[in-house]
Amino acid sequence: MGPVLLLISTLLSSYFHSGRTIDVPTTFTIRNITLAIEPNTDVIRDTNVTVRCKAIVSSSGEQPLSRSYTIYKDSYEVYTKTTSSSEDLLYPLPQARVSNTGKYKCKIDIEGRQMVSNSKKLTVTGLSRPMFHINKGVVTEGEEVTARCAAPQETGSIFFYFYEDSKEIVEERVSSNQAEVKLRFSSAGIRRIHCDYTVLITPDSIKSSESNIATVSVKELFITPVLEIFPEYNIYEGDRLDISCTIRNSPYSSQAVNLFLSQGTQLLSNGNSKVNYSMIALAKDSGEFECRLEMGNVVKVATKMVSVTELFSVPTLTMSPAEVFPGDDMRLTCRSENHASERLHRDEVTYTIYPLESHLSASRQAGVFSGKTLLYDFNYTCTAQAKGIVKRSRILTVRPKVSVSQPKISLLGKVIVGRPFEIRCQSDRGSLPINYTLWRKNNWLNTTTVKLPDEQAVFTITIQRSDEISQFMCEAQNNLHANGILSKSLNGTVTVPLSDPKLTVNPSLADIAEGDHIHLNCAIRGTWPVTFKWYRTGIAQPLYTTTSKQTSMDFQIPSLGSQDSGTYYCEAINDANNLVRSPSVTIEVHMAMWKKAVIVAACLLVVAVLVLLLVLRFKAKRDAASRYDGTEGRVTNWTRDSVASLPADISNRSSYSIQPQCREALQWEGHEIIKQ
Ligand SMILES: *[C@@H]1O[C@H](CO)[C@@H](O)[C@H](O)[C@H]1NC(C)=O
Ligand SMILES: *[C@@H]1O[C@H](CO)[C@@H](O)[C@H](O)[C@H]1NC(C)=O
Ligand SMILES: *[C@@H]1O[C@H](CO)[C@@H](O)[C@H](O)[C@H]1NC(C)=O
Ligand SMILES: *[C@@H]1O[C@H](CO)[C@@H](O)[C@H](O)[C@H]1NC(C)=O
Ligand SMILES: *[C@@H]1O[C@H](CO)[C@@H](O)[C@H](O)[C@H]1NC(C)=O
Ligand SMILES: *[C@@H]1O[C@H](CO)[C@@H](O)[C@H](O)[C@H]1NC(C)=O
Ligand SMILES: *[C@@H]1O[C@H](CO)[C@@H](O)[C@H](O)[C@H]1NC(C)=O
Repeated sequence: MGPVLLLISTLLSSYFHSGRTIDVPTTFTIRNITLAIEPNTDVIRDTNVTVRCKAIVSSSGEQPLSRSYTIYKDSYEVYTKTTSSSEDLLYPLPQARVSNTGKYKCKIDIEGRQMVSNSKKLTVTGLSRPMFHINKGVVTEGEEVTARCAAPQETGSIFFYFYEDSKEIVEERVSSNQAEVKLRFSSAGIRRIHCDYTVLITPDSIKSSESNIATVSVKELFITPVLEIFPEYNIYEGDRLDISCTIRNSPYSSQAVNLFLSQGTQLLSNGNSKVNYSMIALAKDSGEFECRLEMGNVVKVATKMVSVTELFSVPTLTMSPAEVFPGDDMRLTCRSENHASERLHRDEVTYTIYPLESHLSASRQAGVFSGKTLLYDFNYTCTAQAKGIVKRSRILTVRPKVSVSQPKISLLGKVIVGRPFEIRCQSDRGSLPINYTLWRKNNWLNTTTVKLPDEQAVFTITIQRSDEISQFMCEAQNNLHANGILSKSLNGTVTVPLSDPKLTVNPSLADIAEGDHIHLNCAIRGTWPVTFKWYRTGIAQPLYTTTSKQTSMDFQIPSLGSQDSGTYYCEAINDANNLVRSPSVTIEVHMAMWKKAVIVAACLLVVAVLVLLLVLRFKAKRDAASRYDGTEGRVTNWTRDSVASLPADISNRSSYSIQPQCREALQWEGHEIIKQ
């Protein structure tokens, strides 16, 4: 139940009626409404069911309230009543039926204020047994029988079904509780007929039990169609067939009867009492002929199988050779493989080629036509003919093949001496399959067959010298009866991998001195472009990098310094991608001529100074010996002091720096002198 509605209504209706006293307005509230099904929600048929709607309304005042009730079954309104009584509303369902099954609820309306009850489902079970009746028990074929099926006391929406030997024959929907149908039987025999029904209750339907069974005895109608075919056996193509379709034992007027003569789906003839048909038999006419009699809805049929023997078979058109090129001789043969030798001699069959104006000419042998192949596709057919019968072959389309065009030989990718590379051979035109052959001078290397349009002929080859590249040629062939076509010679650039790297120094190593301009020449053998790099051992970065079209390049050091002494080498790389490195060369930078001269001069000066000092010392010693009685110690001290007082740079150089250089310079000088 919904929330309690607290509705206060003030009625002033009488206020507008002049001359009357004003009634006390009635205030009310609908407290609750409930629906109950009595005696039960699940009942068997024939139970007296009551739907009870109980509303609890509180009101003030004496005036009775006008209550409108509505009962719903499955959301459809089934009952309404307006009353001023406060008693429960009763909706009687006397002797309930299956069709009363459904969901019920009720609604109350007082002066526009409404309340709806809960819903309750009533289920009624049990259908009455259907009663079946027919108006005749004995009929002849085609005669009408009226059959009636009743569902006693049932209500609602009912479907009736009629069965012949448990096979459903008619269905009828009615809104009453009985149905009547007309039945006809088109063949003789005893028929057992019965019925049943279903009652629709949303959303299902309930099926009744089966009715009683009624039997109908159907008697044969003594009228028969007769089909006659002459001749009946040993029919050959070209034979005349006479067919008639007639009636035997007809007690009826011929107007009432219709005859149809047909073969398969083709109606050959029709009429009332007799139908004739005449035809020339063909092999395709083998099959069933039917003579059909229709009278009212009685149908009687007579059939006969006819088997027509072929005089000769459908010709086949064949071509030889199987593959032809434009202009080739070709031969088309039209032949009927089988023939009925008891009726026909092979020579009686004549052959014709179509189109008649074709360029082919008949040879002496029957059915053989020859001529030149055309440039384009052409359709031919032929016919075989004997005893007025013509049979045509299927279409033969002659598709001349396209001769292969001169193939093009080309390289796929780079060619590097000593490494495998690919050669492609391709003709722009030519029917597939095409055989491509690769030749080297006159030697066969390989053959490949291209069968599909996107296939390519690619050969893998290795050469040892760059000039070998022009020895390759390829050949394309798609016609066994003609020579293949040769391509031009293969042309392309060949990369020779680098070898024999050599680093040479100019001027020669022995002559290098400080300040010289030298060339470090890196030379290799192989194909340009070449990238050269010069390195000095101990330094990761190249000193110099250059790419050239020459196989020998220089790196120059314009003015050598003593720091340039070291070990050098070069590297080179080309398209073949093989890196080569030269043997290394050690450069020792000698001192420059003028430096040596200066050092020699300086050394000589030092020697001269030393000599001078010695001389002075000697002289002083001698003087001292003559002047004092003197001791050695004093003279020594003096000498040491006087040496120490020499200019600092001279003493340093002589002791640390100049001395080895001097030695070297002197040695060198001496060497030079000795050489000279
Ligand atoms: C109405 O009455 C029924 C049965 O007495 C009860 O179950 C229900 O709760 C009531 N509803 C309201 C809104 O009081
Ligand atoms: C049902 O009501 C009818 C009258 O409407 C009465 O004749 C019959 O006896 C009742 N059936 C039962 C089972 O009470
Ligand atoms: C049918 O055939 C019969 C002989 O069998 C012939 O007399 C009659 O004229 C034919 N009728 C037709 C309509 O061809
Ligand atoms: C040949 O016949 C085929 C049908 O069988 C047809 O599709 C085709 O166009 C014909 N060709 C020519 C060249 O007439
Ligand atoms: C010919 O070519 C095929 C495919 O490229 C290859 O497998 C075969 O070894 C080649 N034959 C010769 C003799 O080179
Ligand atoms: C192509 O080569 C295959 C196999 O080598 C051979 O059978 C065929 O006859 C050749 N076809 C032509 C047109 O040369
Ligand atoms: C080879 O091809 C180059 C261009 O790619 C062309 O200049 C040269 O003439 C060709 N040589 C031959 C022999 O065909």
